[in-house]
Amino acid sequence: MTAVIEIENLTKDYEVGFWRQRRVRALDGLSLQVEQGEIFGFLGGNGAGKSTTMKLLMRLIYPTTGGARILNRDINEIGMHARIGYLPEHPYFYDYLTAREFLVYCAELFGYARDECQRRAGEMLARVRLEEKSWDQQLRKFSKGMLQRVGLAQALVNDPEVVFLDEPMSGLDPVGRREVRDLIDSLRDCGTTVFLCSHILSDIEVLCDRVAILQHGRLAHLGRLADLRQNTGNRQMEIIVALADTRQMETALRRIPDSQLTPTPGGARIQVPAEQDVDAALAAVRACGAKLISVQPVGNALEELFVSERREENAASEIATRIEAKDQ
Ligand SMILES: Nc1ncnc2c1ncn2[C@@H]1O[C@H](COP(=O)(O)OP(=O)(O)OP(=O)(O)O)[C@@H](O)[C@H]1O
Ligand SMILES: [Mg+2]
Repeated sequence: MTAVIEIENLTKDYEVGFWRQRRVRALDGLSLQVEQGEIFGFLGGNGAGKSTTMKLLMRLIYPTTGGARILNRDINEIGMHARIGYLPEHPYFYDYLTAREFLVYCAELFGYARDECQRRAGEMLARVRLEEKSWDQQLRKFSKGMLQRVGLAQALVNDPEVVFLDEPMSGLDPVGRREVRDLIDSLRDCGTTVFLCSHILSDIEVLCDRVAILQHGRLAHLGRLADLRQNTGNRQMEIIVALADTRQMETALRRIPDSQLTPTPGGARIQVPAEQDVDAALAAVRACGAKLISVQPVGNALEELFVSERREENAASEIATRIEAKDQ
């Protein structure tokens, strides 16, 4: 396996305040590698440092210390940037250009011939499933979801070998979300490496081979999703059902200790203390003839899991220390 993204001790302090006299460390000694062809999830809560990392890699801002290599080239080598793609968190568009004109303009920046730019513009807009009737409309008339698709199209216009996507699903409706998920998945077949930034586990869950979790600018975890899932056994789960006879369901749920049922206008919300209780709860739901709407963890950000894991680790080591002290 060859590493196509190599981040080495990357650190960023922002200077803040009116006189820029105060420093805030947004990223603290990040080191990691992403292999060729991987879809790599970059996770963390709000303000964890994800976008800062992306901007550093794109050279939109400069590191305080540390550096990185992409495709075996230092990120300061400008030529390498023609071989990668980037969807920023808050993309800026030229409002008065049409979607097609904007894409042609982006392709021209890579030096393609005029016909090739036109061809690529059409191919990319179709690929992100922007409706053809909108291709020749000005971007200022676009909805947020439509703009997000245009942003994605420009990130792919040069057939990048590595693509950096900062929250690509933001602003998309559920259908759009699924389409973008499928699109990212299709990049895998082309051998493209994807560095995907999100704080929503469900986006990552179906796509990513490996993930990194940032916490307050530090790398808190790096590994395969399957390994992370082993740590998620104690998650509280929420089950939403419709058309429920709540009385009957309440009785059925008594067999699950610490489960809770809250009636909703259309049915009920059931909370069970752990993932292993879900099967029993679903059996109760079925027995009552209710319709299943959704099953999801309560507070599903992966970072939260690691916060709690750390707390448990700390508590365990504290107890161990106390026991040792007692024994002496
Ligand atoms: N230009 C800036 N000047 C000062 N501080 C900044 C600047 N940009 C980001 N920060 C700070 O750096 C930290 C990391 O921000 P960053 O945008 O990288 O987080 P993020 O992980 O992308 O969060 P989100 O999920 O909300 O997008 C935050 O504490 C933020 O306030
Ligand atoms: Mg961000």
